[in-house]
Amino acid sequence: MKIIPLNNNRINDLIDLWNKEFSKEFPMRRELFIQNSFEDENVFLPGSWMAVDEDNHVIGFIISKRWQDPMPVPMPADVGWIQVLLVSKEERNKGIGSLLLEKAEMALKADGATEIQLGGDPLHYFPSVPAEYEKSSEWFEHRGYEYLGSEYDLLANYDSTAESEMPNLDGIEIEILTLKDKDEMLKFMNRVFPGRWEYETIRYFQKGGTGREFVVLKKAGKIIGSCRISDEHSSVIYNNVYWSPLFSEPLGGIGSVGIDSTERGNGYGLTAVLAGISILRSRGINKIVIDWTTIVDFYGKMGYQIWKEYRKYRKQL
Ligand SMILES: CC(C)(COP(=O)(O)OP(=O)(O)OC[C@H]1O[C@@H](n2cnc3c(N)ncnc32)[C@H](O)[C@@H]1OP(=O)(O)O)[C@@H](O)C(=O)NCCC(=O)NCCS
Repeated sequence: MKIIPLNNNRINDLIDLWNKEFSKEFPMRRELFIQNSFEDENVFLPGSWMAVDEDNHVIGFIISKRWQDPMPVPMPADVGWIQVLLVSKEERNKGIGSLLLEKAEMALKADGATEIQLGGDPLHYFPSVPAEYEKSSEWFEHRGYEYLGSEYDLLANYDSTAESEMPNLDGIEIEILTLKDKDEMLKFMNRVFPGRWEYETIRYFQKGGTGREFVVLKKAGKIIGSCRISDEHSSVIYNNVYWSPLFSEPLGGIGSVGIDSTERGNGYGLTAVLAGISILRSRGINKIVIDWTTIVDFYGKMGYQIWKEYRKYRKQL
């Protein structure tokens, strides 16, 4: 066995190994793997490695990230992320995973990271460690990772014959975003959600987004809230619809959802989500995922139930 640098010449082998291990829970599409693990400017190659056996077969890999995008967005400079660590079932308990993690951690530390997070990277697959992989949680705990709490993906199924009405609130206009409002939308994100959501919105437009993936709430013509809505036609495969190969019918995604901090508590958040649902339903979608949230009660009001649980882990270096 040898540990060698991650190389995009081996992309098919990496995807094959992923699908051999995870295809039931998370079937990997080539376009998603390219988008999130090769085209993301934040992939940190000095901390990304493959394990190959004597016949040069890929038997494990680790992909790590550091914030490296030159975009002027406030993202954490002291964090290193492990996007994925995977060792083939037949090759487990031989120290390969430990070796891969050690190499990634050393490189992240040498680059200035003072904290490592499992998942939750820019363009992530997992917000953190899927709770169903109990052994993985224990494995990371033995290596100094600290459990910080749980996060959830939620799911709702709709009856295709039932209508989903567009909500209505006095003094509020509800619109699907258009390119005409692109600057106003970016200003809203920069003012209210600087950092990750702002970054994702800038990237969305850079990747050809036209606005159809956002419903916005306006008050006196000014954006005060938004809800991202994704489906199979979106130019970016967003966090909540990367599950679509698991379903035989079209999958939609709700989130991120956010209301201007001075406008919260007025029913606008609920309205933004209900508007997003109604638009997705009008696009023929009857299954919707809301990913990576802790406010289960808020979405529970609209019938969403826990679908997946993740255990959040961090290690201080
Ligand atoms: C979460 C958020 C979108 C809610 O928007 P809002 O306009 O303040 O919420 P609303 O006024 O529409 O709330 C309606 C109901 O949800 C409840 N609610 C609001 N925020 C909640 C929360 N964080 N957790 C649980 N319930 C919540 C309210 O108590 C209210 O309940 P009621 O109808 O029984 O009185 C808003 O607080 C926000 O932008 N937060 C920061 C971004 C964020 O966390 N987004 C969600 C990430 S997954």
